[in-house]
Amino acid sequence: MARVVVLGTGTGVGKTYVSTTFVRELARAGAASVLGLKPVESGVSDDPAGTDAQLLADASFHVKPPTPLRRHSFREPVSPHLAARAAGTTIKVADLVEWVVTNEDDCPLPYVTTLISQYSRWSVIETAGGAFSPLSDTTTCADLAEALEPCLWMLVGRDALGTLHDVAATTRALKRVPDVVVLSAPEAPDASTGTNANEMLRLGLAARVIELSRGGSRPLANLATRWMTKHSRDDSPPTKS
Ligand SMILES: Nc1ncnc2c1ncn2[C@@H]1O[C@H](COP(=O)(O)OP(=O)(O)OP(=O)(O)O)[C@@H](O)[C@H]1O
Ligand SMILES: [Mg+2]
Repeated sequence: MARVVVLGTGTGVGKTYVSTTFVRELARAGAASVLGLKPVESGVSDDPAGTDAQLLADASFHVKPPTPLRRHSFREPVSPHLAARAAGTTIKVADLVEWVVTNEDDCPLPYVTTLISQYSRWSVIETAGGAFSPLSDTTTCADLAEALEPCLWMLVGRDALGTLHDVAATTRALKRVPDVVVLSAPEAPDASTGTNANEMLRLGLAARVIELSRGGSRPLANLATRWMTKHSRDDSPPTKS
């Protein structure tokens, strides 16, 4: 099983758009199964349609939907640690890891996996809010990403003014460099949109930066093919891109 953890420079930056698109592109690139997961989600109403967990389940390929759909689901649209506190519970990173692994293990193992390394199983895990959004008083989404190692880290930010700071601050604070930074185009582009990826490379903020246009998928399709070729070895998850 090859695992991708999707982190954000903040909330609403495009993590779900990027995650669901990448899940579909992995399937298109030849993955035997792709499981999209959202372990913690707040702001969840009675109608599951359109929630991050449901969108990821809908995009998933050749897998059962996770049970339950999320490990922690909260109605209040606030930080997970605040929502958990209001609900009288505590989010534990170890529980989230166990929930992810259990659902990954629940995926069928196609017989071709052992024969053709390109046909392998992938999971894509969207974290909540920004990389350092608190899950509890002492843990953040970055701790979850670390606990889910070995895996590939995808950091999503906006392709807009301020992103040079946001990506620099996030990558510096993370324990290791993300395997890829994905800049998702905002609804209203600004003067920096389209320039930020090159600038990040020039400043040495990241080794690989992908620009995603509004409604775009092509760069993620290319990445899916690249990672499939490089990392698709069942039970030997990737450590480096
Ligand atoms: N490249 C893009 N093309 C089209 N729509 C996009 C793109 N990036 C983001 N969006 C849209 O912008 C909105 C916010 O993005 P999204 O929900 O993916 O952010 P998020 O980081 O997952 O937010 P949250 O922190 O709430 O999980 C959504 O309506 C999403 O569909
Ligand atoms: Mg989301």
